[in-house]
Amino acid sequence: MKTRVTEILGIKYPIVQGGLAYLAYAELAAAVSNAGGLGQITAATLRTPERLREEIRKVRTLTDKPFAVNFAIARHDGKYEELLEVAIEEKVPAISITGGNPKPVFERLRDVDMKTLVLVAGVRQAQKAEELGADIVMAVGQEGGGHLGREDIGTVVLTPRVADAVSIPVLASGGIGDGRGLLAAFALGAEGIEMGTRFIATQECVHAHDVYKQAIVEGTETDTVIIKRTLGAPGRVLKSEFTEGIIEKEKQGAGYEELKESISGKANCHYIHEGDETAGFGWGGQVIGLIDDIPTVQELFDNMIQTAETGLARLTGIVGKPN
Ligand SMILES: Cc1cc2nc3c(=O)[nH]c(=O)nc-3n(C[C@H](O)[C@H](O)[C@H](O)COP(=O)(O)O)c2cc1C
Repeated sequence: MKTRVTEILGIKYPIVQGGLAYLAYAELAAAVSNAGGLGQITAATLRTPERLREEIRKVRTLTDKPFAVNFAIARHDGKYEELLEVAIEEKVPAISITGGNPKPVFERLRDVDMKTLVLVAGVRQAQKAEELGADIVMAVGQEGGGHLGREDIGTVVLTPRVADAVSIPVLASGGIGDGRGLLAAFALGAEGIEMGTRFIATQECVHAHDVYKQAIVEGTETDTVIIKRTLGAPGRVLKSEFTEGIIEKEKQGAGYEELKESISGKANCHYIHEGDETAGFGWGGQVIGLIDDIPTVQELFDNMIQTAETGLARLTGIVGKPN
């Protein structure tokens, strides 16, 4: 499975594990990289330069394959610089950037040998990332888990739109959870995929509570909702009394001050680490409708590759072999 993405990143399969706040630590990142994809750890939730350095070194004890560090710029309140210095000092092979204007990051990386992936939710953002020097863009459709674009563009439309608009390779993201999605991404003009929610329901996502994993396994595509839309920062979460409560408050006109406790990282962790449904929420995408097991990352990859091969045979049967 060879695309520009596998070549740029030096990986076997063009499958990237998304930055996953409070979940993407060394165990998961290394498992994804060892299976042939690109694993990531998330800088924002490691918080301090010391913790980030420790986690990068831990990844290196678990894999000798390339991996990346995710920077959600806005979440650091503009204080991501120190963490970026650690990634540079530790010679991390790649970083991904989301949640803000990536320009200062590219200025800092001008003479640094590090691959860059930028998450985008629209054509203009993708073009901007290319102009700044991104190696790869990841186009995240509105089916996805976690923070989304404000325009609600689905993956099936967004992926070809972005692929047509830039000359750097594109990864499709949002709603992908199996080999059919992988194959579909290629058909849409992407050169690989990013997945977030699917990786939570794996054995190596050791920080996710069983309650959260089970909710992903049992949920269907109708069991997610969008919170924080009224704050201009929509994000997709698993539907629950707690998240319906947030939406209700938003409908009643609550502002950031009134909502901040329920949408905080702390509330997020109450659910995803402790399994307390009454005290918090978990991000998750519509793809939960396609997830019904908790495999190892290796088993997930094996299954996806096999399903993609079967799907390709089916497509060839429909479209015919190329002349
Ligand atoms: C629990 C969770 C936490 C996330 N945290 C981050 C994050 O910290 N940084 C980031 O770039 N993306 C984050 N995302 C988005 C994912 O990286 C990815 O773009 C998204 O999950 C893709 O959609 P999918 O869930 O349908 O695969 C998060 C997603 C989820 C589900």
